[in-house]
Amino acid sequence: MKILSIESSCDDSAIALTDSSGALLWQGKISQERAHSVYGGVVPELASRLFARDLPALLGEFKTRFGFECIRAISVTYEPGLSTSLLEGVMMAKALALSLNVPLLAINHLKGHVFSLFINQDSISESACFPLSVLLVSGGHSLILKCASYQNMQIMGSSLDDSFGECYDKAAKMLTLGYPGGAIIDKMACECAKILESRFSNFDVLREFVDITKLPIPLLHDKSMNFSFSGLKNAFRLKLSENEELAKLIVLSNKIQEKIKQDFSMQDSIKNDLDSITQKIKNNPYALALCYNLQMSATEHIIQKCRIYLRQNNLDSIKHFAIVGGASTNSMLRAKMQDLCDEFKKVLLTVKLEFCADNAAMIGRAALAKIRENPRFLKLDSKNILNLDINPRNTEIQNIESFL
Ligand code: KG4
Ligand code: ZN
Repeated sequence: MKILSIESSCDDSAIALTDSSGALLWQGKISQERAHSVYGGVVPELASRLFARDLPALLGEFKTRFGFECIRAISVTYEPGLSTSLLEGVMMAKALALSLNVPLLAINHLKGHVFSLFINQDSISESACFPLSVLLVSGGHSLILKCASYQNMQIMGSSLDDSFGECYDKAAKMLTLGYPGGAIIDKMACECAKILESRFSNFDVLREFVDITKLPIPLLHDKSMNFSFSGLKNAFRLKLSENEELAKLIVLSNKIQEKIKQDFSMQDSIKNDLDSITQKIKNNPYALALCYNLQMSATEHIIQKCRIYLRQNNLDSIKHFAIVGGASTNSMLRAKMQDLCDEFKKVLLTVKLEFCADNAAMIGRAALAKIRENPRFLKLDSKNILNLDINPRNTEIQNIESFL
C-alpha cells in the first residue's frame, strides 16, 4: 500500500509518497520563502497563486517517476492553516481521489508535525513512544501536547498571542532581514554567544550591549502552561530603537526593500546594495546582542512552561518528551530541552532536521498512523471526499480546559 500526501497549509508546496511500512519513498517540495521574504511575512494571495503553479509541477514530477497506479490512498492537510493555501491542496487531493477512485484522508497539520518524529528514524519506533509529551514550536503554534495515540491528543498549554517562531520572524522583520527569520536570529544569537565565550577582539563592546539589551522573560509568575511572546516582541522593538547606528542601517535597508517591492525588475540591479547593508546589520554588535537576549528569554520562557507541565504531569508512563515543528531546530531550545529532560529523567526525542519544517512526508506518515489505528479510514467513501472542507483553525486536538 502506498499513500500520496499533499501539504499546502502555509507557504510550502509539498507532495510525498509513503509506503505501508512507514518508509518515505519520495518527497518533493517547492518553498515560497524567497517570494514572501521582501514582505517580511506570507502574503496569502501570492501564496495561493504559487500553490496553483507549484503543486501541479510537483505532481507532474511524481507521475513521471511512479505513475498513479501504485496509489492506494490520498492524504492531505485540511487544518489548521491559511484558508487560501489549504484550499489549493485540498482541491488537488479531492480531484485525485475521485479520479483514481481511492480514499481520501484528511490530516491535521499539527498531528503531521508530531508524526514527523518517525520519518527515517530507525531508532525511534512509534509503538514504543506513546504515550508521549510533545513541545510543538512552529510559525503558527507553540503548544505542549499530551499524546496518548493518534486520535487522542490534548493541548495542555498554548500561546495566548504570537507563537515562538512568529516572535523570531517579527524580530527578523524589524531588523529587515527577511522571512522566515527564525534561523537567521538563531544564527546571530549563536554568533554572539561564540564571541562572548572566545573573548574575540570585540568582546568588550558586545558584553556591554548584552548587559544593556536584556529582555524580560514572559509570564514569569504565571502558573499556567500557556505561552506569550508579544510582550517580548515589543520589548525587542523598544530596545532596537535605542541604538542610533543600527536604526540608521534599518532605515536604509527599508528604503532599498521598498524600491524592490514597487518594481521587482530592480531586484538584480540593487541586490549588491541590499546584500551589503544586510551584512552590516547581521554583523552589528548591538543587533547580535539583542538577538542573543531574545533567544535567552524566549527559550527560557518555553523551558519554564515545560517545567510546570512536567511537575504537574510527571507520570512514569510518559517516558518520552519530543520537540517538533519548524522552530524545533533552534539550537538553544534543543540544548535546554535536553537539560530539562535529564532533570526529569525523560528521553528527549527530536525530529530529523530535514523534516522539522513543513513537508508532505509528515502528512503521509500521520495518515499511516490514522489508518493503523482505525482501518475503516481506508474504505472508499466518495461522499466523504466531496464533503471534505478546510478549517483555518485546529479543531481536531482539544484544549485540556474543554475536558474539565
Ligand atoms: O513548522 P514550520 O515550517 O511552519 C509552520 O507550521 O508554521 O515552522 C516555520 C517557523 C518559522 O516561523 C521559522 O522562522 C521558525 O519556524 N524557525 C525557527 C528556527 N528555524 C525555523 N525559529 C527559531 N529558531 C530556529 N532555528
Ligand atoms: Zn507547520
